[in-house]
Amino acid sequence: MTKKKAVGITGIGMYLPKKVLTNADLERMVDTSDEWITTRTGIKKRRIAQPGTPASALASEAAKKALAYAKLKPEDLELIIVATITPDMPFPSTACFVQAKVGAKNAACFDLGAACSGFVYGLVTAKEMIAGGMYKNALVIGVEVLSSVTDWTDRNTCVLFGDGAGAAVLQPVKSGGIISSYLGADGNLANLLYLPGGGSRHPASKDTLKQRLHYIKMSGSEVFKSAVRLMTDAATRVVCDANLTCKDISLLIPHQANIRIINSVRQRIGLPEEKVFLNVAKYGNVSSASTIMALCEAVEQRRVKKGDVVVLVAFGAGLTWGSVVMRW
Ligand code: ACO
Repeated sequence: MTKKKAVGITGIGMYLPKKVLTNADLERMVDTSDEWITTRTGIKKRRIAQPGTPASALASEAAKKALAYAKLKPEDLELIIVATITPDMPFPSTACFVQAKVGAKNAACFDLGAACSGFVYGLVTAKEMIAGGMYKNALVIGVEVLSSVTDWTDRNTCVLFGDGAGAAVLQPVKSGGIISSYLGADGNLANLLYLPGGGSRHPASKDTLKQRLHYIKMSGSEVFKSAVRLMTDAATRVVCDANLTCKDISLLIPHQANIRIINSVRQRIGLPEEKVFLNVAKYGNVSSASTIMALCEAVEQRRVKKGDVVVLVAFGAGLTWGSVVMRW
C-alpha cells in the first residue's frame, strides 16, 4: 500500500464581529440573570454581527488571515470547505461567496453541514483529499452568524450562542500534522437540536413564521448528557488510534458550548485543568467556528507550541461528533 502524505495545518486566522452582547444585556431582553448564565454555562459575553451580515463576510476575513499566516496566495488554493449552519443562503454555497471575496479563483468550493462538529468534519475531509494526492493547498473555514437564527425571546437558547469565524490552511507537511481522526453521527437523535423551518420539510410560509420555526430548537439537558458521553468517547478513541495515551496530550481543545460539559469531559478523560483550552466565557457557542477559533487563540496565547500534541473534539446537531489528534 502507498504511504499517505502527512498533512497539517500551516496557517490559521479568526475574525469576530465587534459588537459584544453581555449577560447584563440579556437580562434586559429575557427573564434571565448573569448568575444563572454564568453558573449553568460559563458564558459571560458573546459577539454579535450587525443584522444582515452574511457568513461569507466573516469567513473571508478569517480566510485572508489564515492565507497570510501560511504565506499562500489566494490563487494557490485548490479547495475551500466552509462548515456552517448559517450559510449566506441555501445556494450557492457560502464557500463560493468566500472564493469570490478572497480571489481564490482556482479552488473547488463546497459547504459542509455538521453543526458544531463542522470544522472537525471539514478538517478531516480536506486532510484526506490532500493525503490522497488530489490537492496540495486547502482552506477549511468554520463560520456562524447564529444571531440570525436565534430566538431572542427564548431564554433557553438565546443566552448560549454567538457569531464568529475561524479558518485553517492545510498542506502536506514533512513531519507531524494530523495523526489520527474520528467522525461519527446518530441521526436518531436529530430531534434534540434542529432548525425546522425554511427547508423542504417546512418551506417558509406565514405559518412557519407564526410558529417561529426559523429558529434553533433544543432539548438542552438531553444534548448535555449526549455531549459529555460522545466527546469523552471521541477524544479517548482518537488518542488511542494515534498510539498515544491521555498523558501525552499537551492541550485538549473542545467545542466551546458549556463549561460544565467541558469540565465533565476533562474529568472523565483524567486531564488537569491547565491542559484544556477555554474561551467559552468570551464568545459563547459559535457552533462550526468554535474549535478553530479556540485553536487560533490557543496558538496566539502560546498555549500550543511546535511539537505539542493537540486534540480537537466536538459534538453538535445531528447528532454529530468528531475528533482529531495532531502534532503542531
Ligand atoms: N435563565 C434562567 N433560567 C433559565 C434559562 C435562562 N437563560 N434557561 C433555562 N432556564 C430555566 C429552565 O426554564 C428550567 O426551569 P424549570 O426548572 O423551572 O423548568 C431551569 O432553568 C433548568 O433548565 P435545564 O434545561 O434543566 O438546565 P440545564 O442545567 O440543563 O442547563 C443548558 C441548560 C445550559 C441549555 C444546558 O442543558 C446545556 O448547555 N445543554 C447543551 C446545549 C448545547 O451544548 N448545545 C450545543 C449544540 S449547538 C449546535 O449544534 C447548533
